Amino acid sequence: MSDRKKIAVVPGDGIGKEVIAEALKVVRASGAPVDFTEFDWSADRYLRDGTTIPDDGFQMLARDFDAILVGALGDPRVPSNIHAKEILLGMRFKMDLYANVRPVRLLDESLCPLKNVKPEDVNFTIVRENTEGVYMDMGGAFKQGTPDEVATQEDINTRKGVERVIRYAFEYARRHGRKKVLMSDKSNVMTYAGGLWQRVFKEAAGEFPDIAAQHIFVDALCLAMVREPRQFDVIVTNNMFGDIITDLAAALQGGLGMAASGNIHPGRTSMFEPVHGSAPPLAGKNVANPLGAIQSAAMMLAHLGLQQHADRIDAAVLATVRARQLTQDLGGSIGTKEVGDWVAKQVS
Ligand code: NAD
Ligand code: IPM
Ligand code: MN
Repeated sequence: MSDRKKIAVVPGDGIGKEVIAEALKVVRASGAPVDFTEFDWSADRYLRDGTTIPDDGFQMLARDFDAILVGALGDPRVPSNIHAKEILLGMRFKMDLYANVRPVRLLDESLCPLKNVKPEDVNFTIVRENTEGVYMDMGGAFKQGTPDEVATQEDINTRKGVERVIRYAFEYARRHGRKKVLMSDKSNVMTYAGGLWQRVFKEAAGEFPDIAAQHIFVDALCLAMVREPRQFDVIVTNNMFGDIITDLAAALQGGLGMAASGNIHPGRTSMFEPVHGSAPPLAGKNVANPLGAIQSAAMMLAHLGLQQHADRIDAAVLATVRARQLTQDLGGSIGTKEVGDWVAKQVS
């Protein structure tokens, strides 16, 4: 029996396609024992034949693949964003990938927009709840389109969902030698949901006496992330706050082009993707930064137990940044493909 890992690849839309091509190039150059199967689930396909992901798509991914690598989904030609919801949120929800792990690491001082911030000052991980909250899209509308319109959007928090992501954050901290887990919410206003998060966090903290448990309101967290990012180790928060603070955190690393993520359910087929979207204005111009996608592929390899290959890719990304072989978003002047070539050259 071969122990090569099977990876499903969904390049998606816009720059997703370009950055994923570079991530595949780098993984191949690393010699990692993986085989890729590409799926064309995207806006192009939706506009062509009206399909997003086949009915049995999620079962097929869980059954036949060890991991999934996604580029980005979203296209102005599909204003409802229905295909992105069905494919991307479909994977997160239907495959129950409850922990969205988004590491925040500054590779070089020159990439940070803040003054006098060094790589050792920005090195933490955000664990975002990934299957609940307002993303469940529960709610309703009344008298739509009239001056009396009412719209509700429910924030769903289940005890099971909150508990498992908080536990994941503590376990992640332990596994990675981190000292602190900080939970962030808005419990001063959102009494019921916040109350649940507060109680569950306190209980879980009791089970991890070796890890310090801290709390901060999410508005204050935004300020602290900019003013003193050094203080953070692991941050855990809900789906919507996690979405927002991970874009802010991406800025600390050099921008969305640098940010990587994993959508994880331990023991099940998990999905890895850069944090950024399809960036329509950049698409097709060979200018998108592929390093977030490349680092997401490295996270995937580490998750699959291919730690040495992951480490080599991370080291190659660092070398590429230090050699300033970068795209325009980072002040460089070379293209997406050329950055990919550089990283690939360092790992091979
Ligand atoms: P975006 O992430 O595509 O772009 C935000 C900004 O970051 C833009 O200025 C863009 O040029 C820049 N940027 C993003 N990735 C970059 C890269 N690799 N290199 C250089 N610059 C980069 O977010 P948006 O503009 O809000 O959304 C565009 C589309 O993507 C929408 O349809 C949105 O729904 C979708 N989206 C998808 C995902 C995903 O698939 N995970 C994530 C975010 C947004
Ligand atoms: C992200 C994106 C997605 C989200 C969108 C595209 C649905 O912004 O992965 O951060 O909101 O989770
Ligand atoms: Mn986002």
